[in-house]
Amino acid sequence: MILTKLDYSLLRPEAIVAQFKEDFSFSSDITLLSLPKVNEQRPTPKHWKDDCRSNYDDLFLQLSRHVGDVFGYSDLQDGKLVQEIFPIFKDRNKQLGSGSVHLELHTEDPALPYRADVLGFLCVRNEDKIPNLLSCPDFSAVDATLKNRLIESRYTILSDRPSTIDYKPKDLETAVLHESPTEGYRFIYDPVYIDYNKMSQREELDFKDFIELVESATIELSMNEAQVLFINNYKCAHGRPQFTPKYDGTDRWLKRVQISKDVSKHLEREYSLDIITDI
Ligand SMILES: [Fe+2]
Repeated sequence: MILTKLDYSLLRPEAIVAQFKEDFSFSSDITLLSLPKVNEQRPTPKHWKDDCRSNYDDLFLQLSRHVGDVFGYSDLQDGKLVQEIFPIFKDRNKQLGSGSVHLELHTEDPALPYRADVLGFLCVRNEDKIPNLLSCPDFSAVDATLKNRLIESRYTILSDRPSTIDYKPKDLETAVLHESPTEGYRFIYDPVYIDYNKMSQREELDFKDFIELVESATIELSMNEAQVLFINNYKCAHGRPQFTPKYDGTDRWLKRVQISKDVSKHLEREYSLDIITDI
């Protein structure tokens, strides 16, 4: 796992983006930035439809746009480019960022072939120190036979979207591990939304080994106010432990962006969801 920490907390705001342009590299699985803190933060909202502006939003978007093309989906928080992550009471038992049950490790949007290459998270508030769970397994050390079978087998990923529109994307048949000469091993992971009925006995055993591999590499990373995290969505799975929200304006408040290295290649194609971008 390659984790890069960048401390910009003492930089002037106008110097931060220029410094980030020099420092950011796709070779890092995880990049954690500390920004200068801004006083007078508002309470954590109750719903993403509320006014959710924070003092960090502009800088977060500028930094994200340096990583790649920021985009949203038509069925996700009304197509917002920056999505809100805080506990919402009615979602408390769901496998969502707005839930409070243990959010199992997953890579984002595993059932969508046009999923993000990189995810960005901004922490507006986290007084309770609720960590992100992250796992960037090292596949180079894994048994070659298992790796080859994971690369060659086709698994069925079920559509996991909390869609507010009628049309849902279809399930996706895909290998869960890919290897490329330029990017090494890349994986797609969501053990909650995978069709175990379609697996052969061999595939099921391999998938159990795959789960063990990913889960055993889990680390906890607790974000503080004014920190930004970029994670490679093909190198690193993410989740969150169970916690007890207070719904009183002090709960953990993160924001998230989806970033593509080149969203234009997706815009020309017909997908079940509209991709929203302003590039
Ligand atoms: Fe997620």
